[in-house]
Parts: sequence; C-alpha cells; structure tokens
Amino acid sequence: MRQGVTPTGRQLTKFMPWKGLGKMTDDELKAVWMYLKSQPKLETATK
Ligand code: HEM
Repeated sequence: MRQGVTPTGRQLTKFMPWKGLGKMTDDELKAVWMYLKSQPKLETATK
C-alpha cells in the first residue's frame, strides 16, 4: 500500500491510487486490513 508493489513483486499502475492511499497512517491501514479480513471469502476468490 505504500510502495505500490504486490507481494509477488508486481508494480501497480497509476490506476490504483496507492500514492494517496499509502499516506494513510499505520492505524488507518490496520483498520482497512481488519475490515477486509472480517469479510467472508468470495466463492470466486483464487487465494
Ligand atoms: C483502501 C482502499 C484500497 C485497497 C486496500 C486497495 C488494494 C488493492 C490491491 C491489494 C491491489 C493489487 C491486487 C493484486 O494484483 O494483487 C489493487 C489493485 C488495483 N486497485 Fe486498489 N485498493 C484500494 C482502493 C482503490 C481505489 C480507490 C481505486 C480506484 C479509484 C483502485 C484501483 C485499483 C486498480 C485499477 C488496481 C489494478 C492495478 C494494476 O493491476 O496495476 N483501488 N488494489
């Protein structure tokens, strides 16, 4: 979220606004992460 690079090392395009989103504080990013983890997995999820 801060460098615009996925765990597999792929650089995200400018269409994912990571430069702005990456300015969130650690607590804000943690809140986003906790929310996402609290959601049920989609049937179409690949991981
Ligand atoms: C807190 C909000 C957001 C989170 C946590 C988030 C997270 C992510 C992640 C993890 C990826 C990489 C997926 C992967 O290939 O592994 C991604 C890609 C992407 N996101 Fe977001 N995103 C957010 C908001 C947004 C917004 C607001 C937009 C557009 C207005 C956006 C547009 C995109 C696009 C277009 C990609 C694909 C970029 C590429 O493949 O180069 N995202 N996002």
